[in-house]
Amino acid sequence: MSSDPLLQPYRLKNLNLKNRLIITSHEPAYPEDGMPKERYRAYHVERARAGVAMTMTAGSASVARDSPPVFNNILAWKDEVVGWMKQLTDEVHEHDCAVMIQLTHLGRRTRWDKADWLPVVSSSQEREASHKAFPKLAEDWDIARIIEDYADAAERMKEAGLDGIELQAYGHLMDQFWSPLTNDLDGPYGGSLENRLRFTFDTLKAIRARVGDEFIVGIRYTGDEELTGGLTKEDGLEISRRLRDSGMVDFLNVIRGHIDTDAGLTDVIPVQGMRSAPHLDFAGEVRAATNFPTFHAAKIQDVATARHAIASGKLDMVGMTRAHMADPHIVAKIMRGEEDRIRPCVGANYCLDRIYQGGMALCLHNPATGRELEQPQIVPKAGERRRVVIVGAGPAGVEAARVAAERGHEVIVHEAAPHAGGQIRLAAQSPRRAEMIQIIQWRLSECERLGVTFRYNSFADAETVEADNPDVVIVATGGLPHTDVLDAGNELVISAWDILAGDAQPGQNVLIYDDAGDYAGLQAAEKIAETGAKVEIVTRDRSFASEVMAMSLTPFIRALQKRDVTFTVTWKLDAARRDGNALTAVLGTDYGGVTRERNVTQIVVNHGTRPLDDLYFDLRAGSSNLGEVDYEALVAGQPQSVRHNEDGRYQLFRIGDAVAARNTHAAIYDALRLVKDI
Ligand SMILES: Cc1cc2nc3c(=O)[nH]c(=O)nc-3n(C[C@H](O)[C@H](O)[C@H](O)COP(=O)(O)O)c2cc1C
Ligand code: SF4
Repeated sequence: MSSDPLLQPYRLKNLNLKNRLIITSHEPAYPEDGMPKERYRAYHVERARAGVAMTMTAGSASVARDSPPVFNNILAWKDEVVGWMKQLTDEVHEHDCAVMIQLTHLGRRTRWDKADWLPVVSSSQEREASHKAFPKLAEDWDIARIIEDYADAAERMKEAGLDGIELQAYGHLMDQFWSPLTNDLDGPYGGSLENRLRFTFDTLKAIRARVGDEFIVGIRYTGDEELTGGLTKEDGLEISRRLRDSGMVDFLNVIRGHIDTDAGLTDVIPVQGMRSAPHLDFAGEVRAATNFPTFHAAKIQDVATARHAIASGKLDMVGMTRAHMADPHIVAKIMRGEEDRIRPCVGANYCLDRIYQGGMALCLHNPATGRELEQPQIVPKAGERRRVVIVGAGPAGVEAARVAAERGHEVIVHEAAPHAGGQIRLAAQSPRRAEMIQIIQWRLSECERLGVTFRYNSFADAETVEADNPDVVIVATGGLPHTDVLDAGNELVISAWDILAGDAQPGQNVLIYDDAGDYAGLQAAEKIAETGAKVEIVTRDRSFASEVMAMSLTPFIRALQKRDVTFTVTWKLDAARRDGNALTAVLGTDYGGVTRERNVTQIVVNHGTRPLDDLYFDLRAGSSNLGEVDYEALVAGQPQSVRHNEDGRYQLFRIGDAVAARNTHAAIYDALRLVKDI
């Protein structure tokens, strides 16, 4: 038996967990009609198959009608959930993986204009900054009703065969009762700590009355709100002991912080550039104080840190949740001695940020995640070995190379630069986004293992490519910044990339016109502001950095606010003109009728890229498909069979920003879904 601390079994009450790695509850927004159907099941089964000890499904599965989901959660208040959860549970169990579900009432952390338009309810009338609904103050009949709702939902989960449930108590109704900041009730449910905990213990009693003593019931809760006037660490430790002593709870899943603002949520679930495992020691303190089964997750991205969490006795079970989105096969790889092959989570938080914008969780650099029904996590071999020539070693190109090599093809990559990476290399220049380079590094090391040939400093033209005698050519040449967007004075502006690449020195008084709303504008702003320069970001949108979502934006706002960077929304840059040694920026607006001027020393335009597509057009005539992609076949997962040119010597495709400016996920997804069928 392995001596790896992570691979030791753990006995939780009557449940054998085969190792110490768990996926904590997270709602990837995959339910259909509020139910965990095929996509949902496939996502969890893939991870179960690859060896994780337990997967906690849902994330905020709703126990009551007046807790409508804000990002497409499971509706645990419906009886039909039992059948769907049973199917999921049975399939996960086939792989000797335990499965539980998180149940909750969101309280004020939702909106009244969802689902049934019922009023939002809480122990306070104060609204939550993030969701902005003014709640009604819970009446006695609300409390009685919701306690029953919890018990009903718990009973449904027991009926579905789950190994247990977890109650959510950070930022939701349960701890809204706990916190002095969000409990305006008088006794018996308000006032003293005992009164504020009463709702939780009444709920636990009702649940136990339904599910009995054997069924596992845990709680995921904040042990320290880190808010003035909120629950302190001492309160948290006291609550932890009371939960343990109640005899109604089987494990503690510890969180530190608060989630009522974007910034608070980001400190609870840190993103890239933020500290690794910031709350692990705190979770360890809870375990030491309670001597009770303790779970925890928060940016434990790598196996070494997870191993330390277990070996040092800080945790009983360690959560690697986003890490399992990036690579479902972590445990399998540890067991095979292939830890260095784990696809690293780079903390980009595309997964989590997306659900708040109404989309399903997708991993920035694993496009098969959430698409297990259509895209392979392990790419199968092709029937016939072909020669695939790829031009460009940015994210699209290196993913195409990896997938083609996994298919068993001979792969040659031409890259004009002396190294791979493309736009990711540029993005990773900022310390805040340095983790991004792992997207490229992981692919390069997979390509090395698979024997891909890289030709750097190779500015490939059509002749170079044809000399390789390819069966398939994939153009992944990316794009270049497009700044030619002004009515006058285009020659006076530089691009955000010029700043990031170091091709232009930051000015002293800088206007950044951010019309793309992506990371490049923010990164340029931070780099310039760090020199002590004055920086104003101007955008024609109603909010700035529209493509960088809430949690990912948090570290930037913190850094930029410290440097007094200003944000001007709803104005656009119309023109620039020279004004002695300085520049004048002329601002207009889509709303019409007004202009303003700014005197600055530098104007930076961030307006996305235009494709570098000359090579693609040069190669078209020699190709069999003239570059055409059969979208029906692409989406259906069928090979490409378009033939327009009988004399064509190769199939030709282009992917990523060489087609049109998009993002890293789109580039990598382009590559995977095309090349997996080549
Ligand atoms: C897409 C997504 C949805 C999440 N939803 C929930 C949720 O509903 N309830 C919850 O307790 N945690 C939720 N989480 C937080 C995770 O359980 C976990 O605490 C967090 O991702 C930090 O752990 P990690 O760094 O290992 O990913 C979510 C995380 C992600 C990525
Ligand atoms: S999107 Fe980023 S944070 Fe989320 S799983 Fe993928 S790499 Fe990790």
